[in-house]
Amino acid sequence: MMGCEHIRNLQAIADCEVVAYADPHDSSRVNAAKLLPNASAFEDYEQMLAAEKLDVVVIATPNHTHRNVLEDVLLSGVHVLVEKPLCISTQECREIIALEKETRTPNRVVWVGLEYRYMAPTARIIDECSNGSAGSIKMISIREHRFPFLKKVGDWNRFSKNTGGTLVEKCCHFFDVMILLANSKPVTVFASGGQDVNHLNESYEGSIPDILDNAYVIVEFANGIRGALDLSMFAEGSLNEQEICVVGDEAKIEALITESKIRIGKRNLGASGVVEISVRHDEGVVPGFHAGASYVEHQAMQKAIRQNLPTGVSLEHALMSVAVGQAAHLSIAERRRVDLSEVL
Ligand SMILES: NC(=O)c1ccc[n+]([C@@H]2O[C@H](COP(=O)([O-])OP(=O)(O)OC[C@H]3O[C@@H](n4cnc5c(N)ncnc54)[C@H](O)[C@@H]3O)[C@@H](O)[C@H]2O)c1
Repeated sequence: MMGCEHIRNLQAIADCEVVAYADPHDSSRVNAAKLLPNASAFEDYEQMLAAEKLDVVVIATPNHTHRNVLEDVLLSGVHVLVEKPLCISTQECREIIALEKETRTPNRVVWVGLEYRYMAPTARIIDECSNGSAGSIKMISIREHRFPFLKKVGDWNRFSKNTGGTLVEKCCHFFDVMILLANSKPVTVFASGGQDVNHLNESYEGSIPDILDNAYVIVEFANGIRGALDLSMFAEGSLNEQEICVVGDEAKIEALITESKIRIGKRNLGASGVVEISVRHDEGVVPGFHAGASYVEHQAMQKAIRQNLPTGVSLEHALMSVAVGQAAHLSIAERRRVDLSEVL
């Protein structure tokens, strides 16, 4: 899914050509070939790295494969965009961070695909908060109410050992956004969650999926800000798939992602003073599956490569988003508050 999504977005980026792809699964290569009839196809990405002269590799393989694929791609020296989550555990993320340092070259860009931060309403609320529109921020809540996980090739996403668990796999996006909004380090996590509705009647070689499908996660930040994630994956009846709400000592700001708008309400003006603003990407942005965010991500990465700019989403950023998710799973399993230092 995400491989083809990247191909379609890259095809829309000026001065960019997708010249090769690798996937061991026949029907995935057939899907890629429909988009890229003239590109070289490989079953094995190592053969592709050896045979092709590439500038950039995009890794959109299952989460549990990221660590090993990344290792080979980093050693090959090309620029790389790896899909989120960086890896399925903080341990693996740290191994990749160490390898990136060892193999670093001055101009190489290593970028993690945490593109939700580039959705237009999300980018706008991040800007508003950093410009002080809410005053001194005290509370950040992010709600994702959506449909269950889709089917994947080989059903890899049915088990936490492959995904890292829902709060890593899916919610790393939201912890990334929460950390940007708080502009501070997360320090403690307390969570409650479970698998109460989805996938309970499925069985894969006798094993029932262990996908957590709802949770509340409370995150405390070093600067005193409190964050909360409200996740439901059996909430198809939602107008907005994601809603972000920030409350500061001067104002409340909301981002309604599907409706593509933000609301700003100053305390001194009350409910009648709430301003609603429609927020859209510029003309020409390809909407794709993520409201234009993947296209914006690729444009920004191309600019970073060409102009020798730092990466937009670093390995360290991605590590923190995985750490909060991992801490939340630990908190649920042990029914206690978890210090981030326990997983870092
Ligand atoms: N950024 C986002 O919003 C977003 C959305 C969906 C998925 N993702 C991420 O994208 C990645 C892929 O997810 P998907 O939904 O496309 O899954 P998918 O199952 O649709 O596709 C994964 C593909 O990887 C292939 N693959 C497995 N091992 C490989 C290897 N060693 N070399 C080359 N190809 C290999 C599989 O055969 C399959 O075709 C995951 O990390 C997932 O978390 C990100």
